Amino acid sequence: MFGILLVVLGYLAGSVSAGIVVARLMGLGDPRQGGSGNPGATNLLRLGGRKAAAITLIADGLKGVVPVLIAHLTGVSPWMLAAVGLAAFLGHLYPVFFGFRGGKGIATGLGVMLAWSWPVGLAVVGTWLVVAALARISSLAALLSFALAPVYCLVLIGSPALAAAAGAMAGLTAWRHRGNIRRIAAGTEPRIGKGK
Ligand code: G3P
Repeated sequence: MFGILLVVLGYLAGSVSAGIVVARLMGLGDPRQGGSGNPGATNLLRLGGRKAAAITLIADGLKGVVPVLIAHLTGVSPWMLAAVGLAAFLGHLYPVFFGFRGGKGIATGLGVMLAWSWPVGLAVVGTWLVVAALARISSLAALLSFALAPVYCLVLIGSPALAAAAGAMAGLTAWRHRGNIRRIAAGTEPRIGKGK
């Protein structure tokens, strides 16, 4: 029963789409209507600049961190930790507060993984940073770092539960990035800091 409450809390926290709130507060309109149409930090960088992007990144990350940390403090099983993190991630993708039209889950997923296990989280963030620095494509960095997350869960901490949830996140975010994947293949995906 308590576990279900944590999962619901995770989903509700994830449903608070920071990008939509930040854009509204800064008078930028609905980020789902501009740029890539994604209410995430990368698109807020395009639409509103670094400050809007940084606030969105931190707030979307925290809504993954906080529910998982609460779950950790209550001493639940690894499978319940996995479920709470996945619920926060799903809340970001399908937010109950914003017509179930949310984002791609990268900042929230990174927050979840950092709170699950800092070595896993740092490995995923490190992979994102390396790919982003080399390719200058946010979506490619997201896709590769999330694809490796289940491997990191198994190799670094030996957790099948977290690996399964990380695999689910990788699959869901690949689906949400399908337009980005097409643009990467076509060579038209915007580079970080440039274009729409
Ligand atoms: O975090 C989302 C990122 O991977 C892609 O964002 O706006 O380029 O579709 P965007």
